[in-house]
Amino acid sequence: MSSQIDHLLDEARRFPPSEEFVAQSIDDPALYERAAADREGFWGEQARESVHWHKPFTRVLDWSNPPFAKWFDDGELNVAYNCLDRHVEAGHGDRVAILWEGEPGDERRITYAELTDEVKRAANVLQDLGVGQGDRVAIYLPMIPEAVISMLAVARLGAIHSVVFGGFSADSLRSRIDDAGAKLVITADGGYRKGKVSALKPAVDQALSDRNGEGEQQTVEHVLVVRRGGNEVDWDDERDVWWHDVVPQASGEHEAQAFPAENPLFILYTSGTTGKPKGILHTSGGYLVQAAYTHKYVFDLHPESDVFWCTADIGWVTGHSYVAYGPLANGATQVLFEGTPDSPHPGRWWELIEKYGVTIFYTAPTAIRSFMKLGRQIPQKFDLSSLRLLGSVGEPINPEAWMWYREVIGADRTPIVDTWWQTETGAIMVSPLPGITAAKPGSAQVPIPGISIDVTDDDGNEVGNGNGGLLVITEPWPSMLRGIWGDPERFKETYWDKFKDKGYYFAGDGARLDEDGDLWLLGRVDDVMNVSGHRLSTTEIESSLVAHEATAEAAVVGASDETTGQAVVAFVIIKQSYLEAHSPEGLATLLRGWVGEQIGPIARPRDVYVVNELPKTRSGKIMRRLLRDVAEGREVGDTTTLADTMVMSTITSQVK
Ligand code: WT7
Repeated sequence: MSSQIDHLLDEARRFPPSEEFVAQSIDDPALYERAAADREGFWGEQARESVHWHKPFTRVLDWSNPPFAKWFDDGELNVAYNCLDRHVEAGHGDRVAILWEGEPGDERRITYAELTDEVKRAANVLQDLGVGQGDRVAIYLPMIPEAVISMLAVARLGAIHSVVFGGFSADSLRSRIDDAGAKLVITADGGYRKGKVSALKPAVDQALSDRNGEGEQQTVEHVLVVRRGGNEVDWDDERDVWWHDVVPQASGEHEAQAFPAENPLFILYTSGTTGKPKGILHTSGGYLVQAAYTHKYVFDLHPESDVFWCTADIGWVTGHSYVAYGPLANGATQVLFEGTPDSPHPGRWWELIEKYGVTIFYTAPTAIRSFMKLGRQIPQKFDLSSLRLLGSVGEPINPEAWMWYREVIGADRTPIVDTWWQTETGAIMVSPLPGITAAKPGSAQVPIPGISIDVTDDDGNEVGNGNGGLLVITEPWPSMLRGIWGDPERFKETYWDKFKDKGYYFAGDGARLDEDGDLWLLGRVDDVMNVSGHRLSTTEIESSLVAHEATAEAAVVGASDETTGQAVVAFVIIKQSYLEAHSPEGLATLLRGWVGEQIGPIARPRDVYVVNELPKTRSGKIMRRLLRDVAEGREVGDTTTLADTMVMSTITSQVK
């Protein structure tokens, strides 16, 4: 690791924006000065500039009860009104909001006026189905316009959405529905994936039927189903409602009511260090302000001429902030794509950039690395000259991938913004401003104006330039999480207890400051893995493995992987009783499939190694560091604290 870091820090290339880019950019160095001089005043200005307040706020921040922040809390707004009606009222109703392309190539162009109308109808339907302020609605949809429409309809009513990624299993969906106590589920019969219809509704049916009685209350009253795949589905007449039977018929009149700034907007589940996903809670005013502000300045947005495309699924936070809320709050035109990058051909994304004239493109390093592997001849077949800015998110981008992105996709001309943030931070926290910052390949560089970040040692002392440590956020920010749904204690413990005396937020990431004070993100310092930019918990996958009848014990590590950043590698001990009754043949495949079914295909381990023992300390703690050495094919490190120092040679021989 350390030689890799030194190599990174030798990176001396600098890419300042071209004169041409600077001349047209909205980024202004005064933003940094203003934010440094009066942080709260600065956020107050951004809040007034980027959001319409039905009732103006008089106070920016209430931090009297940390870590529970209130932003703009005597103000009132309607999030959906901000993303829709106000643009129509300002005369932009004919501007295209969504350029949608389905995987089979079907298209829909939806203007702001049309989107507003559709959301009003959907809001009326939701209201008829009993959804009101504070109610939870689970959304389990493919990347179709109805996904965004549903989110906005829920927001319009002051209710709370919990979007569950369509790739998650029935089990994962069930635990999320139950934890939030959802009243309504919005889903589709199915969606398209790699040329085939992949069913969704059966997972909802299963999630709602799998009840074992004890303590598991059925909170869901209705399931609203969009027809997309055209696949056969089971139907419960009492519970299920077709979207097309009710939404087009509903009234298009719906006046947006104002809700307090701190009214919850959404819950989004993410993996932590324990087995149980955390429901990250975001509220309305502060979240929308920072989503809109960052979308505007980090992407140097010109809403009248840009075509923005963020490739994230709405099941992740990136899809919330930079597909749904940021772009729509700013009145931008954006591409929404249902499919995968390589179907039906490996140039599909580049084809879409050419077709829609995309100007700003935001994606993840894992995607860039897989395109690199396929070779530049694929993107070079397309006209990508409309692009003027590229973004990266989700994991560290290595300088090689950064350079390829700039040269091959960006014609050696476009700035790149490497944006660091988390589900918990709600919006971008660290990133260059493309019209100002001279970019360094591989570094996320500097906190955006208004955000205070530092790198400290374990005790919260600044390490200073040239040193590494832990990334902390030293001041509250508008789009910060307000808690973990139903678990205020876990909220404090996970993020705030580590630097309690200083009042810092602990992000869980290692970082280094170079001699210029630029930030280099070094990956997670906890038991959280990052696979293709998706967060997975080692513990959650271990729990899934031991839930299988064959498994006695399991240990999971994130091993570095050329394409996906990290890959899940599992070491399992099989029960003697199981081996007596079954052949050991095919066990690894069986267990990989099992995890895929239990959690979702993204959690499926790349490798499952069957071993006789796991390396443990005398107190019984599994030493994952040593297993990572094995998984990455390295010489095994210091084993002196193991209870049985021989165990690693046994494991190494079994893995080979
Ligand atoms: C974790 C958060 C932010 C939306 C997508 C992921 C890693 C994120 C970067 C970046 C290095 C990054 C961190 C972070 N991460 N962006 N630009 N450079 N690492 O959201 O699932 O909440 O994961 O992703 O480790 O803690 P998430």
